[in-house]
Amino acid sequence: MSAKKVNKIAVLTSGGDAPGMNAAIRAVVRTSVYHGLQVFGVARGYNGMIDDDIFEMDSKSVGNIIQRGGTILKTARSKEFFEIEGRKIAYENLKKRGINGIVVIGGDGSFKGAQKFSNEFDIPCIGIPGTIDKDIAGSDFTIGFDTAVNTAVEAIDKIRDTADSHDRVFFIEVMGRDSGYIAIECGIAGGAEAVMIPENLTPISEIVNILEQGISKAKSSSIVVVAEGDEEGNAQIVAKNIKDRMDENLDIRVTTLGHIQRGGIPTAYDRILASRLGLGALEGLLRGEKNVMAGVVNNQLIYTPFHDTITKKKPVSEDLI
Ligand code: F6P
Repeated sequence: MSAKKVNKIAVLTSGGDAPGMNAAIRAVVRTSVYHGLQVFGVARGYNGMIDDDIFEMDSKSVGNIIQRGGTILKTARSKEFFEIEGRKIAYENLKKRGINGIVVIGGDGSFKGAQKFSNEFDIPCIGIPGTIDKDIAGSDFTIGFDTAVNTAVEAIDKIRDTADSHDRVFFIEVMGRDSGYIAIECGIAGGAEAVMIPENLTPISEIVNILEQGISKAKSSSIVVVAEGDEEGNAQIVAKNIKDRMDENLDIRVTTLGHIQRGGIPTAYDRILASRLGLGALEGLLRGEKNVMAGVVNNQLIYTPFHDTITKKKPVSEDLI
Protein backbone atom coordinates (compact mmCIF):
# COMPACT_ATOMS: atom_id res chain seq x y z
CA MET A 1 0.00 0.00 0.00
CA SER A 2 2.87 2.42 0.74
CA ALA A 3 3.85 2.43 -2.94
CA LYS A 4 0.47 4.01 -3.66
CA LYS A 5 0.29 7.78 -3.46
CA VAL A 6 -1.14 8.94 -0.14
CA ASN A 7 -4.51 10.54 -0.86
CA LYS A 8 -6.64 9.75 2.21
CA ILE A 9 -5.20 10.36 5.61
CA ALA A 10 -6.31 9.93 9.20
CA VAL A 11 -5.18 12.14 12.08
CA LEU A 12 -5.37 11.28 15.75
CA THR A 13 -4.11 12.45 19.13
CA SER A 14 -2.86 9.82 21.54
CA GLY A 15 -1.42 9.63 25.09
CA GLY A 16 -1.60 12.55 27.50
CA ASP A 17 -3.10 15.68 25.99
CA ALA A 18 -0.94 18.78 25.55
CA PRO A 19 -1.80 22.43 24.87
CA GLY A 20 -1.20 23.07 21.18
CA MET A 21 -2.47 19.70 19.95
CA ASN A 22 -5.45 21.49 18.40
CA ALA A 23 -3.14 23.77 16.46
CA ALA A 24 -1.39 20.68 15.12
CA ILE A 25 -4.68 19.03 14.10
CA ARG A 26 -5.66 22.26 12.38
CA ALA A 27 -2.39 22.40 10.44
CA VAL A 28 -2.65 18.74 9.38
CA VAL A 29 -6.25 19.15 8.20
CA ARG A 30 -5.71 22.42 6.37
CA THR A 31 -2.49 21.26 4.71
CA SER A 32 -4.31 18.10 3.59
CA VAL A 33 -7.14 20.15 2.12
CA TYR A 34 -4.62 22.43 0.43
CA HIS A 35 -3.01 19.41 -1.25
CA GLY A 36 -6.38 17.96 -2.28
CA LEU A 37 -6.36 15.04 0.17
CA GLN A 38 -9.35 13.60 1.91
CA VAL A 39 -8.81 13.82 5.66
CA PHE A 40 -10.40 11.88 8.52
CA GLY A 41 -10.29 12.54 12.24
CA VAL A 42 -10.07 9.61 14.65
CA ALA A 43 -11.60 10.05 18.11
CA ARG A 44 -9.86 9.00 21.35
CA GLY A 45 -6.55 7.95 19.87
CA TYR A 46 -6.14 4.37 18.72
CA ASN A 47 -9.37 3.44 20.52
CA GLY A 48 -11.33 5.32 17.86
CA MET A 49 -9.56 3.38 15.13
CA ILE A 50 -10.70 0.14 16.77
CA ASP A 51 -14.22 1.37 17.60
CA ASP A 52 -14.63 2.83 14.11
CA ASP A 53 -15.05 6.34 15.48
CA ILE A 54 -13.63 7.90 12.33
CA PHE A 55 -15.17 10.88 10.57
CA GLU A 56 -14.38 13.13 7.66
CA MET A 57 -12.98 16.60 8.41
CA ASP A 58 -12.62 19.72 6.36
CA SER A 59 -11.18 23.21 6.77
CA LYS A 60 -14.22 24.32 8.72
CA SER A 61 -13.99 21.51 11.27
CA VAL A 62 -10.77 23.02 12.58
CA GLY A 63 -11.96 26.64 12.70
CA ASN A 64 -11.54 28.55 15.97
CA ILE A 65 -9.43 25.89 17.69
CA ILE A 66 -5.86 27.19 17.38
CA GLN A 67 -6.22 28.95 20.74
CA ARG A 68 -7.88 26.09 22.62
CA GLY A 69 -6.15 23.71 25.03
CA GLY A 70 -6.90 19.98 25.10
CA THR A 71 -7.67 18.15 21.88
CA ILE A 72 -10.90 18.31 19.91
CA LEU A 73 -10.24 14.72 18.79
CA LYS A 74 -9.98 13.58 22.42
CA THR A 75 -7.21 11.22 23.42
CA ALA A 76 -6.54 7.94 25.20
CA ARG A 77 -3.81 5.48 26.07
CA SER A 78 -5.23 2.49 24.22
CA LYS A 79 -4.66 -0.94 25.78
CA GLU A 80 -6.48 -2.75 22.93
CA PHE A 81 -4.06 -1.37 20.33
CA PHE A 82 -1.22 -3.20 22.09
CA GLU A 83 -2.88 -6.46 21.02
CA ILE A 84 -2.68 -7.70 17.43
CA GLU A 85 -6.46 -8.37 17.45
CA GLY A 86 -7.09 -4.69 18.15
CA ARG A 87 -4.69 -3.55 15.46
CA LYS A 88 -6.34 -5.88 12.90
CA ILE A 89 -9.75 -4.36 13.57
CA ALA A 90 -8.22 -0.89 13.34
CA TYR A 91 -6.71 -1.77 9.97
CA GLU A 92 -10.02 -3.04 8.61
CA ASN A 93 -11.71 0.21 9.64
CA LEU A 94 -9.09 2.25 7.80
CA LYS A 95 -9.09 -0.05 4.77
CA LYS A 96 -12.82 0.21 4.18
CA ARG A 97 -12.40 3.98 3.83
CA GLY A 98 -9.28 3.68 1.68
CA ILE A 99 -7.16 5.54 4.24
CA ASN A 100 -3.52 5.15 3.22
CA GLY A 101 -1.62 7.47 5.55
CA ILE A 102 -1.76 8.27 9.29
CA VAL A 103 -0.61 11.24 11.34
CA VAL A 104 -0.19 10.49 15.04
CA ILE A 105 0.16 13.38 17.47
CA GLY A 106 1.49 12.09 20.80
CA GLY A 107 4.48 10.81 22.72
CA ASP A 108 6.86 7.86 22.46
CA GLY A 109 4.23 5.30 23.56
CA SER A 110 2.01 6.45 20.69
CA PHE A 111 4.92 6.19 18.24
CA LYS A 112 5.62 2.65 19.42
CA GLY A 113 2.06 1.72 18.43
CA ALA A 114 2.37 3.55 15.10
CA GLN A 115 5.63 1.81 14.24
CA LYS A 116 4.17 -1.63 14.92
CA PHE A 117 1.01 -0.87 12.98
CA SER A 118 2.88 0.56 10.01
CA ASN A 119 5.18 -2.47 9.80
CA GLU A 120 2.34 -4.97 10.11
CA PHE A 121 -0.08 -3.41 7.65
CA ASP A 122 2.20 -1.35 5.41
CA ILE A 123 0.43 1.92 6.04
CA PRO A 124 2.81 4.90 6.22
CA CYS A 125 2.62 6.64 9.60
CA ILE A 126 4.20 9.90 10.63
CA GLY A 127 4.43 11.32 14.14
CA ILE A 128 4.22 14.77 15.67
CA PRO A 129 5.69 15.14 19.17
CA GLY A 130 2.85 16.24 21.44
CA THR A 131 3.59 15.91 25.15
CA ILE A 132 4.20 18.41 27.92
CA ASP A 133 7.21 16.33 29.04
CA LYS A 134 9.58 17.29 26.16
CA ASP A 135 11.42 14.00 26.59
CA ILE A 136 11.41 12.87 22.95
CA ALA A 137 14.61 12.51 20.96
CA GLY A 138 14.36 14.10 17.51
CA SER A 139 12.86 17.44 18.51
CA ASP A 140 14.26 20.20 20.71
CA PHE A 141 10.73 21.03 21.83
CA THR A 142 7.47 19.10 22.00
CA ILE A 143 4.02 20.60 21.65
CA GLY A 144 2.69 21.67 25.07
CA PHE A 145 5.97 21.95 26.93
CA ASP A 146 6.26 25.72 26.71
CA THR A 147 2.68 26.21 27.92
CA ALA A 148 3.14 23.74 30.77
CA VAL A 149 6.33 25.44 31.95
CA ASN A 150 4.67 28.86 31.86
CA THR A 151 1.70 27.50 33.83
CA ALA A 152 4.05 26.03 36.42
CA VAL A 153 6.08 29.23 36.69
CA GLU A 154 2.93 31.26 37.26
CA ALA A 155 1.95 28.87 40.06
CA ILE A 156 5.44 29.03 41.60
CA ASP A 157 5.32 32.84 41.59
CA LYS A 158 2.03 32.71 43.47
CA ILE A 159 3.28 30.14 45.95
CA ARG A 160 6.38 32.25 46.55
CA ASP A 161 4.17 35.13 47.75
CA THR A 162 2.53 33.02 50.42
CA ALA A 163 5.77 31.16 51.25
CA ASP A 164 7.41 34.49 51.92
CA SER A 165 4.52 35.85 54.00
CA HIS A 166 4.56 32.79 56.26
CA ASP A 167 8.31 32.06 56.30
CA ARG A 168 7.70 28.60 54.87
CA VAL A 169 9.53 26.04 52.79
CA PHE A 170 7.46 24.75 49.88
CA PHE A 171 8.02 21.55 47.96
CA ILE A 172 6.29 21.90 44.61
CA GLU A 173 5.72 18.79 42.56
CA VAL A 174 5.51 19.18 38.81
CA MET A 175 4.73 16.59 36.12
CA GLY A 176 7.33 14.39 34.50
CA ARG A 177 7.00 10.69 35.22
CA ASP A 178 10.33 9.87 33.60
CA SER A 179 11.69 13.29 32.87
CA GLY A 180 12.77 16.45 34.62
CA TYR A 181 12.47 19.00 31.82
CA ILE A 182 9.45 20.78 33.26
CA ALA A 183 10.99 20.75 36.74
CA ILE A 184 14.38 22.11 35.71
CA GLU A 185 13.01 24.86 33.48
CA CYS A 186 10.25 26.08 35.78
CA GLY A 187 12.64 25.77 38.72
CA ILE A 188 15.14 28.07 37.02
CA ALA A 189 12.49 30.51 35.78
CA GLY A 190 10.76 30.50 39.18
CA GLY A 191 13.99 31.09 41.11
CA ALA A 192 13.76 27.85 43.11
CA GLU A 193 16.43 27.10 45.71
CA ALA A 194 16.73 23.52 44.44
CA VAL A 195 15.32 21.24 41.75
CA MET A 196 15.09 17.46 41.93
CA ILE A 197 14.88 15.56 38.64
CA PRO A 198 15.09 11.88 37.66
CA GLU A 199 18.01 12.49 35.27
CA ASN A 200 20.30 13.68 38.05
CA LEU A 201 20.39 12.25 41.57
CA THR A 202 20.18 14.95 44.21
CA PRO A 203 20.34 13.20 47.58
CA ILE A 204 18.07 14.37 50.40
CA SER A 205 21.22 15.35 52.35
CA GLU A 206 22.12 17.87 49.62
CA ILE A 207 18.69 19.52 49.83
CA VAL A 208 19.02 19.67 53.62
CA ASN A 209 22.39 21.43 53.18
CA ILE A 210 20.97 23.93 50.72
CA LEU A 211 18.04 24.76 53.01
CA GLU A 212 20.29 25.03 56.07
CA GLN A 213 22.67 27.33 54.24
CA GLY A 214 19.70 29.53 53.36
CA ILE A 215 18.53 29.61 56.96
CA SER A 216 22.03 30.53 58.13
CA LYS A 217 21.87 33.54 55.78
CA ALA A 218 18.52 34.58 57.32
CA LYS A 219 16.56 33.33 54.33
CA SER A 220 13.06 32.84 55.64
CA SER A 221 11.34 31.02 52.78
CA SER A 222 12.41 28.57 50.11
CA ILE A 223 11.05 26.74 47.11
CA VAL A 224 12.16 23.25 46.08
CA VAL A 225 10.76 21.92 42.79
CA VAL A 226 10.43 18.13 42.58
CA ALA A 227 9.72 16.22 39.36
CA GLU A 228 7.09 13.57 40.04
CA GLY A 229 9.48 10.86 38.82
CA ASP A 230 12.43 11.79 41.03
CA GLU A 231 14.39 8.83 42.49
CA GLU A 232 13.99 10.15 46.02
CA GLY A 233 10.21 9.95 45.67
CA ASN A 234 7.43 12.42 45.02
CA ALA A 235 7.22 15.79 46.77
CA GLN A 236 5.28 14.37 49.77
CA ILE A 237 7.93 11.73 50.40
CA VAL A 238 10.82 14.12 49.85
CA ALA A 239 9.27 16.72 52.18
CA LYS A 240 8.70 14.14 54.91
CA ASN A 241 12.26 12.83 54.69
CA ILE A 242 13.63 16.34 54.85
CA LYS A 243 11.44 17.33 57.77
CA ASP A 244 12.71 14.28 59.69
CA ARG A 245 16.28 15.54 59.31
CA MET A 246 15.78 19.24 60.04
CA ASP A 247 14.60 21.49 62.85
CA GLU A 248 11.11 20.28 63.74
CA ASN A 249 9.86 23.86 63.81
CA LEU A 250 10.63 24.34 60.13
CA ASP A 251 7.28 25.15 58.52
CA ILE A 252 6.97 22.94 55.43
CA ARG A 253 4.16 22.70 52.89
CA VAL A 254 3.73 20.56 49.77
CA THR A 255 1.86 21.54 46.62
CA THR A 256 1.29 19.18 43.72
CA LEU A 257 0.50 21.15 40.58
CA GLY A 258 -0.84 18.09 38.75
CA HIS A 259 -3.03 18.26 35.67
CA ILE A 260 -3.33 22.04 35.75
CA GLN A 261 -0.07 21.81 33.75
CA ARG A 262 -1.77 19.91 30.95
CA GLY A 263 -4.57 22.37 30.26
CA GLY A 264 -5.00 25.98 29.30
CA ILE A 265 -4.50 28.28 26.37
CA PRO A 266 -1.40 27.28 24.39
CA THR A 267 1.37 29.85 24.23
CA ALA A 268 2.23 31.45 20.89
CA TYR A 269 5.37 29.30 20.85
CA ASP A 270 3.37 26.08 21.11
CA ARG A 271 0.88 27.19 18.46
CA ILE A 272 3.66 28.05 16.02
CA LEU A 273 5.58 24.83 16.72
CA ALA A 274 2.38 22.80 16.29
CA SER A 275 1.50 24.55 13.03
CA ARG A 276 4.99 24.02 11.68
CA LEU A 277 5.05 20.34 12.65
CA GLY A 278 1.53 19.73 11.35
CA LEU A 279 2.50 21.04 7.96
CA GLY A 280 5.88 19.31 8.07
CA ALA A 281 4.33 15.95 8.95
CA LEU A 282 1.75 16.06 6.20
CA GLU A 283 4.15 17.23 3.52
CA GLY A 284 6.68 14.63 4.69
CA LEU A 285 4.05 11.93 4.27
CA LEU A 286 3.34 13.17 0.74
CA ARG A 287 7.05 13.02 -0.09
CA GLY A 288 7.18 9.38 1.00
CA GLU A 289 8.41 9.70 4.60
CA LYS A 290 7.10 6.91 6.81
CA ASN A 291 7.73 5.54 10.27
CA VAL A 292 9.32 8.84 11.26
CA MET A 293 8.50 11.77 13.52
CA ALA A 294 8.61 15.36 12.32
CA GLY A 295 10.60 17.48 14.74
CA VAL A 296 12.44 20.76 14.98
CA VAL A 297 16.15 20.62 15.83
CA ASN A 298 18.27 23.78 15.76
CA ASN A 299 15.28 25.50 14.20
CA GLN A 300 15.28 23.10 11.23
CA LEU A 301 12.43 20.75 10.40
CA ILE A 302 13.79 17.20 10.44
CA TYR A 303 12.44 13.63 10.38
CA THR A 304 13.66 11.06 12.90
CA PRO A 305 12.86 7.33 12.65
CA PHE A 306 10.27 6.21 15.20
CA HIS A 307 12.82 3.66 16.37
CA ASP A 308 15.16 6.46 17.53
CA THR A 309 12.41 8.50 19.15
CA ILE A 310 11.44 5.42 21.16
CA THR A 311 14.88 4.09 22.10
CA LYS A 312 17.07 7.19 22.42
CA LYS A 313 17.17 9.30 25.57
CA LYS A 314 17.18 13.07 25.26
CA PRO A 315 19.57 14.29 27.95
CA VAL A 316 18.86 17.40 30.00
CA SER A 317 21.53 20.00 29.16
CA GLU A 318 24.37 19.96 31.66
CA ASP A 319 24.40 23.74 31.87
CA LEU A 320 20.78 23.75 33.05
CA ILE A 321 21.61 21.18 35.73
O1 F6P B 1 1.60 13.39 29.30
C1 F6P B 1 2.65 13.25 30.14
C2 F6P B 1 2.19 13.29 31.57
O2 F6P B 1 1.54 14.50 31.85
C3 F6P B 1 3.30 13.01 32.56
O3 F6P B 1 4.04 14.15 32.86
C4 F6P B 1 2.53 12.46 33.71
O4 F6P B 1 3.34 11.64 34.49
C5 F6P B 1 1.44 11.68 33.05
O5 F6P B 1 1.25 12.25 31.78
C6 F6P B 1 0.13 11.64 33.80
O6 F6P B 1 -0.75 10.83 33.11
P1 F6P B 1 -2.30 10.72 33.44
O7 F6P B 1 -2.98 11.95 32.93
O8 F6P B 1 -2.74 9.50 32.73
O9 F6P B 1 -2.43 10.63 34.93
